[in-house]
Amino acid sequence: PLVTSKAMFEKAYENQYAVGAFNVNNMEIIQGIVDAAKEEQSPLILQVSAGARKYAKHIYLIKLVEAAVEDSGLPICLHLDHGDDFEICKSCVDGGFTSVMIDGSKHSFEENIALTKKVVEYAHAHGVTVEAELGRLAGVEDAVKVSSKDASYTDPDQAVEFVERTGVDSLAIAIGTSHGAYKFKGDPTLDFERLEKITKLLPQFPLVLHGASTVLPEFVAKCNQYGGSIAGAQGVPEAMLLRAGKLGVCKINIDTDLRLAMTASVREHLAVNPSDFDPRQYLKPAREAIKAMVKHKIRNVLNSSNRL
Ligand code: G3H
Ligand code: 13P
Ligand code: ZN
Ligand code: NA
Repeated sequence: PLVTSKAMFEKAYENQYAVGAFNVNNMEIIQGIVDAAKEEQSPLILQVSAGARKYAKHIYLIKLVEAAVEDSGLPICLHLDHGDDFEICKSCVDGGFTSVMIDGSKHSFEENIALTKKVVEYAHAHGVTVEAELGRLAGVEDAVKVSSKDASYTDPDQAVEFVERTGVDSLAIAIGTSHGAYKFKGDPTLDFERLEKITKLLPQFPLVLHGASTVLPEFVAKCNQYGGSIAGAQGVPEAMLLRAGKLGVCKINIDTDLRLAMTASVREHLAVNPSDFDPRQYLKPAREAIKAMVKHKIRNVLNSSNRL
């Protein structure tokens, strides 16, 4: 069945692992991810951004995910990624999602609380779980560059007040990750001291790590080998994600690695087989590449194999 994140996070917290939340926008991506989770017997969150919903349409995505649940027999949580306002959250709650994110991180603390509270009230009345965000991720998401590190990272005391006042089910925190393929200029670092402080102040409360792709070098290299131009890409090291999963992080968001796996595979296939033009010829290996990458994540980054 489609399930909320509640039981998934309780079990992940207790056993110090994380559930992968993978961004989806078409059939092959969904199938590759779900096949991997099934073979690994892993809990799974499929998430849909506003952009993905616009690209594929809500109804196509929900029907595809329902088909994945029926075909695989897996419990899957279907989650809205980065909901911008109350309306999109309400639309996803009404339209069958089992979890939504309201991302009020660009608003003031008080406005973020008010908006999150409103979404929580509506979602909980309909049996849907809610993720919110406090603090701002660096990188592509930031419209305004925040100069001080503390101004954008999550403040631990504020996190406690935010969770208490909103009744939210999980919280995305900013400790140095960012969206996209270019996460660090020099050596990668995350603020684990901050994470430990938040975990201590909010025991048993599930935290979420956005911008958590590892940017696998083999995919970047393959893209570049077959005509791509992706320079200076760097992700979060696997060991850091494993460590975060032991410190209260129950959900790890992955989109960039799916994009890179799919594009590397398609580029290679078309370069090596220039006469192919049936989309199935290149989408089948792309789906396989996604599946293999997700299996690797489940085993080596999330530690969520055999947790059903
Ligand atoms: O957080 C961003 C996710 O990677 C989704 O990206 O808004 O381009 O679909 P998108
Ligand atoms: P990545 O860009 O690191 O894959 O992060 C995805 C994400 O946080 C989606 O919300
Ligand atoms: Zn995100
Ligand atoms: Na965890």
